[in-house]
Amino acid sequence: MSDTKTPDAPSDDQPVRRGIKSFVVRAGRMGSGQVRALAELGPKFVLPFKAGQMDVAQAFGRDAPLVLEIGFGMGDATAKIAKTLEGINFLGCEVHEPGVGALLKHIDEQALSNIRILQHDAVEVLEQMIAPDSLAGVHIFFPDPWHKKRHNKRRLIQPAFVKQLLGRIAPGGYLHCATDWEPYAQQMLEVLSAEPGLENTAEGYAPKPDYRPLTKFENRGLKLGHGVWDLVFKRKT
Ligand SMILES: C[S@@+](CC[C@H](N)C(=O)[O-])C[C@H]1O[C@@H](n2cnc3c(N)ncnc32)[C@H](O)[C@@H]1O
Repeated sequence: MSDTKTPDAPSDDQPVRRGIKSFVVRAGRMGSGQVRALAELGPKFVLPFKAGQMDVAQAFGRDAPLVLEIGFGMGDATAKIAKTLEGINFLGCEVHEPGVGALLKHIDEQALSNIRILQHDAVEVLEQMIAPDSLAGVHIFFPDPWHKKRHNKRRLIQPAFVKQLLGRIAPGGYLHCATDWEPYAQQMLEVLSAEPGLENTAEGYAPKPDYRPLTKFENRGLKLGHGVWDLVFKRKT
């Protein structure tokens, strides 16, 4: 499904953490529904990775504001948000194939037409396929926390990557991150607050925006007394 070869066209951005990935692709068991969804719906909703800016209107069959989601996991929140915000085009990046199958199942069951998927490293998608100043928003919900000190460098939210993201977000567009790992929340707040092109929409952490549903995983954590931190920043105009 995904083409993981190194893109041949160089980007004019500074390379971001080249070689250090924010994920490890694990062979996950695919349910039969996911396998079927991949085979039947993949050709329509999963876009090929390529070096070169994507034609968004052509990919979605319409012109609408574009929101990029990085690491949608099993896609539950993605599907709920896309259902609520029908006027938005959602591009979801995920490297975990069972997750891609699961989101395709949601697309089918809920007859969603405003989601497209790229089964590829979002860092490369951003660099190669997304036009400057083009994103209305970016969602990064519960990114891998990489708890161990020696793995912290794999975390997505770091200054160089945020700078790269900023260049793709339209002026006035937003970046919404959420995490349940407090040290990562603190890192997010520090890194996002230090980026001069962004402004915080709240004082510190933000109240959970209505469009972000509570996930099963998050609910369980909340019941156990774990915290969840949302951060919503806007690109300065
Ligand atoms: C902890 S999970 C959270 C999933 C989901 N957002 C949720 O809240 O349930 C993080 C996900 O991000 C994906 N991921 C991490 N880095 C990525 C990258 N650079 N490009 C695409 N997906 C990535 C992983 O495969 C994983 O499924």
